[in-house]
Amino acid sequence: MLEQLKDLHTQALDELNKVNNPRELELWRVRHLGKKSSLTKILRSLAALPLEERRKGGAQANEIKRALESSLEEKEKLLQEALLTSPLESQRLDITLPGRPLPAGRLHPTTQILKEICDVFKNMGFQVIEGPDVEWDYYNFEALNIPQHHPARDMFATLWIDAGMGEKARLLRTHTSPMQIRLMERERPPIRAIVPGRAYRYEATDATHESMFYQVEGLAVDKGITLADLKGTLFDFCRCIFGEEREVRFRCDYFPFVEPGVEVAIGCSACDGAGCRLCGYSGWIEILGAGMVHPDVLARVDIDPKLYSGFAFGLGVERIPMLRYGIDDIRLFYSNDLRFLRQF
Ligand code: PHE
Repeated sequence: MLEQLKDLHTQALDELNKVNNPRELELWRVRHLGKKSSLTKILRSLAALPLEERRKGGAQANEIKRALESSLEEKEKLLQEALLTSPLESQRLDITLPGRPLPAGRLHPTTQILKEICDVFKNMGFQVIEGPDVEWDYYNFEALNIPQHHPARDMFATLWIDAGMGEKARLLRTHTSPMQIRLMERERPPIRAIVPGRAYRYEATDATHESMFYQVEGLAVDKGITLADLKGTLFDFCRCIFGEEREVRFRCDYFPFVEPGVEVAIGCSACDGAGCRLCGYSGWIEILGAGMVHPDVLARVDIDPKLYSGFAFGLGVERIPMLRYGIDDIRLFYSNDLRFLRQF
């Protein structure tokens, strides 16, 4: 029996060595110290033995039982410690590692340039207002001296919402100029305002034309405003945006709602005037149309053209970053290509 007890002890310790977690430990406890364990059975069988053997066997068995119990306790402690330290070990932080970069968003190049344009005019004393993208025929055409069937309607390939309803028809505004009328209807001179916004044209797209694009309309109405004011304002604007060096060209142009009308072009920065795809091989890029507000337009909104005069301009917004950065295709602004957008 003493032999058997010894074997029992070594086997139990062997098995205890292989225990890795509290669940296994509990199984081990039941197997070796539980009611049905060999050790318990031996302790029970002692009663039937002669006194001398019982004493020896009992002492030995109890000693082994205590030894196993203390081994169990020890193992329990070890497991508990491991439970605490192992996650610390495996989740140890290396605080010297560089952080993961957070991808930062940025403003769309069109938004950036709009802000810049508005800032230049704000500094000159213009207020910034906005107007509707869906317009009446009346504001987009009629009130701007472009009645039904006027050939100037061909300048603006229109996206109609209602067709054939005269001045009550709705359309997507083909320019921001209808806001000239809305402004003058609700405000009396002096007026100095700019209107940033989208314009739409039903046109085939190419490198310099999109069917949706941004314009900034400008309007100044007061007593004694002349073409010199228009030139000074727009020259100054071009200098602020393109620097002192860039050439600025004023030429006669025609728009029914101004008289006289002008167009402003900037020397092409991509080819420095030699001619390229960006400037259509002319060396110049037209960035805005402008002119003195037509007396008939003033009269239509009850501003006396004998007392007041004004100038207006309409700026092609995307053309400006195109010129500045040598971007040779306006369609890039609306193609959502991150490789393009991330450069600004
Ligand atoms: N609205 C005109 C266009 O889109 C530009 C313009 C605005 C011309 C104001 C003169 C005065 O072409």
